[in-house]
Amino acid sequence: MDVTSILVFCVVFLFCYYALRTPSNIPMGPVSVPLLGNIPQLAGKIPLLLFRKWRKQYGDVFSVYMGSQLLVVLNGYKIIKEALVTRGNVFSDRPHNFILDKMKDGEGVIFTSGASWKKQRKLSLNCLQKLGFSRNSFEVCIADEAKILIKLIEQNTDAALKMKDILIMCVSNVICGIVFGRRFSHEDKQFLEVVANMSEDAKYIGHASILMNCFPFLQYLPGDILGTKTILEHKKVFDKFFEDLYENHQSTLDVNCPRDFMDLYLIEMKKNSTLPNKEKKLTARPTGTETTSTTLLWAVLYLLHYPDVQEKCFDEIQTVLGLKRFPSLDDRSHLPYCEATILETLRIAAVVPLAVPHASTRDVYFKGFRIPKESSILINLDSIFHDSDIFRDPRVFSPERFLNSSGQVMKPNEFIPFSCGRRVCIGEKVAQMELFIFLTSMIQKFQFLPVDPCHPPNLEGNLGIVYTPKCFQVQIVRRQDVKSN
Ligand code: HEM
Repeated sequence: MDVTSILVFCVVFLFCYYALRTPSNIPMGPVSVPLLGNIPQLAGKIPLLLFRKWRKQYGDVFSVYMGSQLLVVLNGYKIIKEALVTRGNVFSDRPHNFILDKMKDGEGVIFTSGASWKKQRKLSLNCLQKLGFSRNSFEVCIADEAKILIKLIEQNTDAALKMKDILIMCVSNVICGIVFGRRFSHEDKQFLEVVANMSEDAKYIGHASILMNCFPFLQYLPGDILGTKTILEHKKVFDKFFEDLYENHQSTLDVNCPRDFMDLYLIEMKKNSTLPNKEKKLTARPTGTETTSTTLLWAVLYLLHYPDVQEKCFDEIQTVLGLKRFPSLDDRSHLPYCEATILETLRIAAVVPLAVPHASTRDVYFKGFRIPKESSILINLDSIFHDSDIFRDPRVFSPERFLNSSGQVMKPNEFIPFSCGRRVCIGEKVAQMELFIFLTSMIQKFQFLPVDPCHPPNLEGNLGIVYTPKCFQVQIVRRQDVKSN
């Protein structure tokens, strides 16, 4: 066969491949390679930056292929709101996914779909509401843990500190307080292991699960190149930790005197005989640890880059609370600049930039395109937060954009870091309470400085499900020492 025949064969092959594979009227997207799809373009790149470029080229609804699997990426507030709110009935499932299917085992709110998800979400919301969106019990858990955080940081002000490990422990303990009614010592080996595993999983779960989904044969390869076997091992450790607490709660339950989320959940399950067994086996797995601790980590990182913002927060806290009184949720409305700094962190860092993948429940026509049943839908929240029509100079960290002319907090409708519609984050209120108490109490007590004043740590992050800053260290000075210098 000569070169011309080979070329003709390749062109015909590619033409047939695309004609047969691509159903008509699918959203446009970058050219993809047979079998691999767009993986070669995405490999080693930051997907969010490529998505910004592709949005300009192909519009607010574009497609990307991971292997042969179609992902539809939705961009911009209008499109996202239309899909998740107006057409929420068809865009609120979760896609099937090799690892997540194994991990969830039919349980939980976050990765389930259909009737099971609806029941579990309703139940969880009910329990959270009963427990105390009356907020006292949450506030107590959060403030206790924030005080421990301050002590831990105080013990480490001599050397450069890696904040990540301390933050994740304290934030996990808040969730443990709410769900299990108890906290764990930072020396508790089992707790340390579970927290470390969760953190590692959040890093790997994104790309590992996508690649496994495209190429299921990878699961049979020896070794553990994608870390999937490790993730499943971690699940066993978590299940053991969880099972012990679950059984202990079951055996000591007093239906007239629920102590925590788990008790409330068990009581609801007793009443609700229609829940199948799997769902009964508790769905209240702690979530929201990685997201909240990562937001705090980004906040510290941005304060290193914007010391003027840090000083304004400190001045506001000093004026309103002084240096001794511990912040409480009642102070929120009196600390608008601090509140705006939290909102600005959620915006600029886009901690969950692609939300959690959604899926179409059936063949859908949307914005003139056909989206086949069970396609994965990526909700590109990052496209809203970095849209210069909504947020001027989006790369600049400027809490002022969330303040009106009289200095009060003002949130544009487009600001949806917790997503919107039927799948909106159920932990939004808890997360906001945690972010406020943890951040203001840290700024009240400490000044955060880069270890190398000429080179603050990099602002680029790593994308798993959560967008996390690269590992960095920080120099911490007690405010009382700053004053006496
Ligand atoms: C700064 C902290 C947080 C951020 C930025 C955040 C953001 C998000 C986002 C973007 C989603 C995906 C929504 C979608 O699929 O459209 C989500 C889902 C979820 N979040 Fe959060 N979250 C945070 C903290 C929390 C906390 C503290 C909890 C638990 C108390 C929590 C529990 C959940 C659950 C259960 C879901 C799944 C909801 C469902 O699928 O129906 N989150 N969150």
